[in-house]
Amino acid sequence: MSVTRLFNDSGGGEQSDLQLDDRGRLRHLLTLRGLDRRQITAVLDRAEAFLVPPGQRPVRSEALSGMTVANLFFENSTRTRASFELAARRLGAEVLNLDVNTSSTSKGESILDTVHTLQAMQVDMFVIRDRQPGTQALVASQVDAHVSVLNAGESDVSHPSQGLLDLLTIRRHKGDFDKLTVAIIGDAAHSRVAMSAAEGLVAMGVGELRLVAPRELAPEGFADAKIVTDIEAGLNGADVVMALRIQKERFVDKAGIPDQAEYFKAWGLTPARMKLAAKDAIVMHPGPMNRGVEIDSSVADGRSSVIREQVTNGVAVRAAIFEILAENRESG
Ligand code: CP
Repeated sequence: MSVTRLFNDSGGGEQSDLQLDDRGRLRHLLTLRGLDRRQITAVLDRAEAFLVPPGQRPVRSEALSGMTVANLFFENSTRTRASFELAARRLGAEVLNLDVNTSSTSKGESILDTVHTLQAMQVDMFVIRDRQPGTQALVASQVDAHVSVLNAGESDVSHPSQGLLDLLTIRRHKGDFDKLTVAIIGDAAHSRVAMSAAEGLVAMGVGELRLVAPRELAPEGFADAKIVTDIEAGLNGADVVMALRIQKERFVDKAGIPDQAEYFKAWGLTPARMKLAAKDAIVMHPGPMNRGVEIDSSVADGRSSVIREQVTNGVAVRAAIFEILAENRESG
C-alpha cells in the first residue's frame, strides 16, 4: 500500500531521499514516506528504552553532549516543542528556543538566513515547524553536511515525529498492526497528523485504515485508506480510534469552518458512539483537544483513552530520533 497525497501537495517526492545519507541511514527526519517497516521499527524499539514507570526519573544520557539543538517554531505548539526540548536536554544537548516573534524574521529575514546564522553559532540540529510546505526539505538541502533537520510539523503535509509516537502508542497496546482496524476521525483534509499516521500505518502493514470525515473534510487522493463519510460506519469494530481537531487555521475559506455545536452533534466522539468500536478499542488524540467539539470529555478522560500516554511516548520517540541522528553523524 502507498499513500499518494503528499506527492501531490508538497511537490517533495525527494524528501524521502534527502533525509537519508549515502548509506541509507537517517540524516534528517523530514517525512515517514519512504521509510519501511524495519526502519520505523528501529525507531520504536529505541524509543522503548526511554520509557520508565510513572514517578521514576527520566532516562538521561550524554548522547547529544556538546551538541546544540535549535527549536524554530513558526506555528504555535505545546507538546511537540516541549518534548523535543526535554528530549534534547535529557540527552545532554544545549537547547536554543528561538522566539520567532521577537527574532529578526519579523524584520523580513528569511528562514534560510536565520538557519545559516544559527549554524554559524554551531547549532547541530534544527527542529522546525512551519506553515509553508517544503520548508524543512529546503533547509535540509542547504545546511552543512553534519547538520540535521527535524520536521516538527509541516503545513498540512506531515508531522513525522507525531506519526512515530502514534505508532509506538498503538504498538504498545495492540502489538502487531496487520490485524488492526484504525479509524482516524474528523478533519483529515487539513491534518498533517493524519497524513503521517497514515504513512506510518501503511508502512507497518495495518490491516485496515479508515479516514472518517464529513464529505467536505474528507481528504483526496488516498489510494490505500478507506474514505468513510458516515461516523457510525467508520467506528464499527475499530480497534484504534483517533480523533482530530478541526484545523481552523488551515481553512482558506473561513466560512467553511463547521459550527462547533453542530459538529459535535454529528461527529463528536461520544460514549454512545464509542460503543460501536471494538470492546477493547483505544482512543487517541494528537492534541490540542477541543473538548465538546471533536471529543466528549468522558471519552477523552475515560478508560479507553491513551491520549496522555501519547504525550509520554512523544518524548521517548523524539529522544530516540535525536540519538539515531547523532549516532549516524558520529559514524558517518
Ligand atoms: N500534537 C501536536 O503537534 O501538538 P502541539 O501543536 O501542541 O505541538
